[in-house]
Amino acid sequence: MTMFHRKVLQRLLQHKRSSFCLTPTFGKASCSRLVLGIETSCDETGAAVMDENASILGESLHSQKEVHLRTGGIIPTVAQQLHREHIGRVVQEALERSGVTPAQLSAVATTVKPGLGLCLRVGLEFSQRFVRQHDVPFIPIHHMEAHALTVRMLQPVSFPFLVLLISGGHSLLAVARGVDDFLLLGHTLDEAPGDTLDKVARRLSLIKHPQCSTLSGGQAIELLAKEGDGTRFPFRTPMGQTYDCCFSFAGIRNQISMAIMKEEAKEGVQQGTLLKCARDIAAAAQHTVACHLAKRTHRAILFCKAHNLLPSNNPILVLSGGVASNQYIRKALTIITETTGLHLLCPPAKFCTDNGVMIAWNGVERLREGKGILPPDVNVLYEPKAPLGVDITQEVKAAAIKLPSVRMKINN
Ligand code: KG4
Ligand code: ZN
Repeated sequence: MTMFHRKVLQRLLQHKRSSFCLTPTFGKASCSRLVLGIETSCDETGAAVMDENASILGESLHSQKEVHLRTGGIIPTVAQQLHREHIGRVVQEALERSGVTPAQLSAVATTVKPGLGLCLRVGLEFSQRFVRQHDVPFIPIHHMEAHALTVRMLQPVSFPFLVLLISGGHSLLAVARGVDDFLLLGHTLDEAPGDTLDKVARRLSLIKHPQCSTLSGGQAIELLAKEGDGTRFPFRTPMGQTYDCCFSFAGIRNQISMAIMKEEAKEGVQQGTLLKCARDIAAAAQHTVACHLAKRTHRAILFCKAHNLLPSNNPILVLSGGVASNQYIRKALTIITETTGLHLLCPPAKFCTDNGVMIAWNGVERLREGKGILPPDVNVLYEPKAPLGVDITQEVKAAAIKLPSVRMKINN
């Protein structure tokens, strides 16, 4: 028997072994190929083992959010150090919980783009060492592709569908036409909505609020906004005269900062003091961000309809990313999907935010289609900046679609 044949036989036996005696954390017992997913692109170190039936066999997640909340934002070197400290344990835990050995894996899928370079590097270096040591194929993952596909792990959603991804690092609208086939309709020109909400929360010193001390900026804004009067601060929704699907949040933040300065002067307090009107500013900030997202998404839907990019039967908008857990923003988008006849799908919060499961699932999707699977010895580079799919933002802009007016009356 040649070395090659011995290896093939070994793999077949391993595959057979993986068909039995697995104890899934939830879902069905595995009788299919197994993928280990690894995520380190931002502030979560995540790992998960998943089979082809979308059963999560084992997972582990270490969040750095509390550390970054205390320092007032992500310091890349700190994030990198924390990934370094936790990645070994997190991967080990995911494997142990799944009862799967490295030899039983059909592939390791790891986020290699986009994200913080220092952080991507930790996951990539760990993964390349791991796949070489255990002789397992490697699947490099695009973080935004993984966010977009997560919904298919939870329910049957066929291509094509429209997806709005909103998080602390990203804001984009795309048509998902296949596992690795996306049309980019719009992206942020400056910052992401989660980043804006985090900065507004910091400027308002919401961390000093007893109910908000452990919440992310976005969560704190949503909580306070529930009791606020957003009409007291009528911030302008940006890009009203630009008829495309791109986003801009820096202008909203600027308007909010000016309002905060005025209120500090009125209340006679220094920056860093909790304002009496913090709830109203939070409500107005949330409303303006929601309206901006809704308007750009409305135009994307009309563009897709005009160019037959979505099925006429049951067209779907998928909403995901950390900011997608905001109920007010979901309601704003529901108004748009109801107006345009789309169906809104949003994964539960646990799967909207970064985790190893979504990366493992993206690996499964690619493995099934035989796309982007590399031998363990291939050198892969990480890419901090990497657009998703084919960029057609200029075509969208050229179409200059005017929006019909929609009443954005959103109840808290
Ligand atoms: O997807 P994610 O966990 O990490 C990345 O940014 O990739 O998203 C985190 C972002 C933060 O900016 C956080 O403030 C925001 O999502 N976020 C929210 C809510 N929960 C988290 N924003 C608005 N409302 C929320 N409920
Ligand atoms: Zn993310």
